[in-house]
Amino acid sequence: MTPQSLIVILYKKYSIFVKGGTMKTREEIVKDFPQSQDYILEILHALQDNNPYNYLTPEDISVCAQYLNLPYSYVEGVASFYSMFSLKPRGKFIIRLCDSPPCHLVGSESLLEYLKKKLGVEIGETTKDKLFTLEVTSCLGVCAVAPAIMINDEVYGNLNPEKLDKILEEKRGEL
Ligand code: FES
Repeated sequence: MTPQSLIVILYKKYSIFVKGGTMKTREEIVKDFPQSQDYILEILHALQDNNPYNYLTPEDISVCAQYLNLPYSYVEGVASFYSMFSLKPRGKFIIRLCDSPPCHLVGSESLLEYLKKKLGVEIGETTKDKLFTLEVTSCLGVCAVAPAIMINDEVYGNLNPEKLDKILEEKRGEL
């Protein structure tokens, strides 16, 4: 059994999260934040970041709602409003390709086609090996190095197909 599959089993069976070598339950994760509605986005991010499938489960929503004393439907509404959150399983690496005009002008569309072909997915889909999910996003704030993508929380610019290949290989090597 690989370390990654062990993490997935722990997560699914016992709601145990593994990050930086420490194990935390959902309840412990939310307690890292003040019990105030102002922190709802941070709490949802923390719960999602610790899910090996990069999404928020009904249990995550429920624990967040109880901790902040909010209705479940309200927290679920917040989670479904923001594109950074997902309510369905995604890959280990979320590739967000910028499709705002400055990136579009310097070739983001052909990079998108390249990625779709290389990964064998359409926008919003996850590769069969559950490694990569392809999404598009608006400006990442690095137009000076367009075209740009973000993978999880890392930004990459001045891209072309060769650089993309190298980045994807690096990501595979991180496993
Ligand atoms: S338009 Fe793509 S990073 Fe700004």
